[in-house]
Order: sequence, then structure tokens, then C-alpha cells
Amino acid sequence: MHIHAYEKIWLAASVLLILFLLGSVTYGAVGPGVAMVSDTEPTIDPGALDEDERFSEPRVEQVGENEYAAYVVARQFGFQPDPIVVPANSTVTFYVTSADVIHGFEVAGTNLNTMVVPGEVSEITVKTDEPAEYGLICNEYCGAGHHVMEGKVNVVSQAEFESSGGDGE
Ligand code: CUA
Repeated sequence: MHIHAYEKIWLAASVLLILFLLGSVTYGAVGPGVAMVSDTEPTIDPGALDEDERFSEPRVEQVGENEYAAYVVARQFGFQPDPIVVPANSTVTFYVTSADVIHGFEVAGTNLNTMVVPGEVSEITVKTDEPAEYGLICNEYCGAGHHVMEGKVNVVSQAEFESSGGDGE
């Protein structure tokens, strides 16, 4: 059987396209840093956050040279702390958990966006740049007040952060 040269090229291209799609789906599922939440034991008790040293006092604290940790609790219908004040030009790791139901944690206009699941701690590390104010919204339907569940993430200068006592002291 004779196969026209153009037909061969198109066949090869289709096979390559399929392989590329399979590869990209696989990479998206198991690539670096991609993991599902644990399906075994919950890692934290949502009903006892006040007994957890990270979340009993939601806060931002310095954990290293220019490195900060932000412990955030989402609950119907708000975020603590509010606003979340973090220093500019630093590395901030957000640890976010829920005290009740599933919420979202989306910093508007950025790629900082995670689901917040009761019993789990969502962890995202970002590098902040210049001082700015960002809106924080819940993007998972969480009840009657979902549409008013919002907060703020304020990136402030290092000097302002230190003078606000924002290191949790
Ligand atoms: Cu919390 Cu929607």
C-alpha cells in the first residue's frame, strides 16, 4: 500500500502530539512539588487549633535570615490574622489550615492560591517583592457568608514590618 509523504508527516505529527500530551499530563500529576493531600490520618485537629502552637495565635514570624513563616487560620467567614502583614523582598512560607470547612486562600492578582482543607496544613512558599496591598479571597463555597469571606495581605517595607512588631513578639 502506498502512503503519500504528506500523510506520513501528519501521522507522525499526530503520534508526537499524543506523546507530548501524555507526557505533559504525567508531568503535571507527579512533577516536582506536586502532591495530593494525605488520605490517611489528618495531620491536625481542626477542632483544637487553639492547642496547636502554630495556629493558637495566627501570626507572621521570622524563622531565618530574611525568611518568615505566616500561620493563617481560615474559618467561616474570615482569615486570621487580618491583615496578614509580611515584609518586602523576603521569603515567606504560608501555612494555612481551616477551623471548620473547606475554604480557598487566593491572593488576588498573584499565583498564590491554595485550597484549605480541615485536618490538613497547606504550605506555600513565595518571594515577596515591593511593598503592596493585596486582596485575599476565599474561592471555595463554604457557606452562607462565602461571598463576604475576604482578608488582606499587606507587603510592607522591612523597617515598617519590624516597627509594627510583626515578628510575633
Ligand atoms: Cu470560605 Cu468561601
